[in-house]
Amino acid sequence: MKPVRIRTLQCTDAEALLTFELDNREWFERHIDARDSAFYSAQGVTEHIAAYLAEFAAGTWHPFIIEDNGGNIVGRANLKGIDMSERSAEVGYRIAQSACGQGLATLAVRHLIQEAQLHWNLKQLVASVYAGNIGSAKVLERCGFLIEHASRQEGTERDYRLGLSI
Ligand SMILES: CC(C)(COP(=O)(O)OP(=O)(O)OC[C@H]1O[C@@H](n2cnc3c(N)ncnc32)[C@H](O)[C@@H]1OP(=O)(O)O)[C@@H](O)C(=O)NCCC(=O)NCCS
Repeated sequence: MKPVRIRTLQCTDAEALLTFELDNREWFERHIDARDSAFYSAQGVTEHIAAYLAEFAAGTWHPFIIEDNGGNIVGRANLKGIDMSERSAEVGYRIAQSACGQGLATLAVRHLIQEAQLHWNLKQLVASVYAGNIGSAKVLERCGFLIEHASRQEGTERDYRLGLSI
């Protein structure tokens, strides 16, 4: 694996984040729900970062980026919907197509677990994954997540809910 750094998203990341999201748009849309087209602009990404940082300040979201040693964003990972009364959150992540298969998502999920424990003092993490997303399921299982629930809505791919007690 090439050297990378995982750090909290910041407002100066807009340009690098737009490049990352545009370069990988088609790749992500093959595996996860598509973003609104308004997101893919300087204004859209700036507003997206502002919204995430507001949630970070409110203690409900922790957004991370993964960058290579050239300062390029190669992945993202989030603790989403942090609930301090339930002491739980959901994990989410996406890796640039060109950086896949090197263990970055596994590294990112392990980082999320560590932050959930040490920074947020959480006890439970959950994740959702479509049945066809074998790489993502492998990452979650390798990090200790267990399948809790499978569901399917009419006309959609089967969706698995996984959980991890930490
Ligand atoms: C899923 C995703 C996060 C994996 O990222 P990654 O950095 O390649 O993951 P890792 O390298 O840590 O591990 C992936 C593992 O799955 C394996 N894998 C990937 N696709 C596979 C497939 N179709 N069949 C079998 N194994 C597969 C890889 O070989 C690797 O296993 P290995 O380490 O034993 O070789 C990345 O493909 C991605 O961002 N996809 C688009 C967005 C997405 O799906 N996000 C997750 C939503 S739940």
